[in-house]
Amino acid sequence: PVEADVVIVGAGLFGLVTAQQITEHTDKTVHIIDIRDHIGGNAYSYFDKETGAEIHKYGAHLFHTSNDRVWEYVNRFSKFTNYVHRVYTTHDGEVFPLPVNLGTINQFFHAAYTPEEAKRLIEQQAGEFAHIEEPQNLDEQGKKLIGEPLYNAFIRNYTGKQWQTDPSDLPASIIRRLPVRFNYDNRYFKDTYEGLPADGYTRWMENMIDSDRITVTLGVDFFDENQPYSKGKLVGTVPVIYTGPVDKYFNYELGELKWRTVDFKEVRYDEEDHFGVPVMNYADADVPYTRAIEFKNFNPERREQQNPRKTVVWEEYSRFAERGDEPYYPINTDADKELYAQYKERAAAEPQVVFGGRLGTYAYYDMHQVINTALIAYEKQVKPLLQ
Ligand code: FAD
Ligand code: NA
Repeated sequence: PVEADVVIVGAGLFGLVTAQQITEHTDKTVHIIDIRDHIGGNAYSYFDKETGAEIHKYGAHLFHTSNDRVWEYVNRFSKFTNYVHRVYTTHDGEVFPLPVNLGTINQFFHAAYTPEEAKRLIEQQAGEFAHIEEPQNLDEQGKKLIGEPLYNAFIRNYTGKQWQTDPSDLPASIIRRLPVRFNYDNRYFKDTYEGLPADGYTRWMENMIDSDRITVTLGVDFFDENQPYSKGKLVGTVPVIYTGPVDKYFNYELGELKWRTVDFKEVRYDEEDHFGVPVMNYADADVPYTRAIEFKNFNPERREQQNPRKTVVWEEYSRFAERGDEPYYPINTDADKELYAQYKERAAAEPQVVFGGRLGTYAYYDMHQVINTALIAYEKQVKPLLQ
């Protein structure tokens, strides 16, 4: 028999927030399992000995939120740096600021347009495609939104690489709008609060579950019936919070939900700073990766602890996920949405199981969103289960 009042499957942010809330508001004990060999889910990071960089193992993670409750909550467990995210992109041998703003536009057209002039130019360029009432593919949609020159330079091939599909074959629906800023603001996020955990993501998340009523077992698969925390042994006997893939929980009986994944290629340079910025996008088709991440540059406040002669860069390649790959971004076609609706009904009928997080609810969540969702799920679903 399991010696905990609740079992949480998945030590990602949803599982950790839930565990934290349970021990804060009740006297129950919680056991967390994860198939991986570390806590933190996709927000996990580790320190690289050679360079001193904090590597975000599952891709660049930037914390940002406009939710006061979430910001106060996360600050209980970590200090946050004053990092502000900015991204640049390489196109045709030149580096431009993103998101597309007046700086990008003026550099691209070798001009000195005022905001009004730039607005008129783009309206005019998009206007040539205004007659396309229902764009049939991404190319038509992109040109209709921002005109051909900017679409071709900054959106077309980047999106094509993200989806590993020629944009003339991509559905128009992937891009509903293409925000262009008619000023020089290139701050990436518009949120009220932004920053990175001062002692790293993993330390932040360790602090969240620093309670003697929370225990963790790593390297354990919920679906492996040869271990004590398996689906067969737990479901129906103890409350379970499940944050793994919802289709997998039901053995893919109704079909598979589709995801995109990313692969990383690590490159090391004998330089202090390779890009001068943490994220460099590559807008063109001739570079096979979408972007490159130079982790040292997320933490300029750690320069003293970093190696001035070495840096590490991860090149990011995007593709469709197969079973066994890390599922990262839900593809969310109409067929996926219908399928998820069916799984959701079955999930609701599972005795004493709460499905949560991005995998358990087939949703893309940023960290602040998953934290908010977990705080709400605790009140609405978990607390009633424990009474
Ligand atoms: P996860 O972190 O995926 O946790 C689920 C856990 O369940 C995993 O640890 C998994 O190993 C475990 N699990 C699954 N199946 C089993 C099983 N059978 N048995 C045991 N354990 C199991 N958010 C931001 O706010 N800013 C960003 O910049 C940002 N960048 C991102 C970049 C990428 C490439 C990705 C993929 C995500 C990014 N996010 C970002 C989103 C962020 O990662 C998520 O919001 C957050 O990690 C979700 O937490 P979770 O608990 O729902 O899921
Ligand atoms: Na992630």
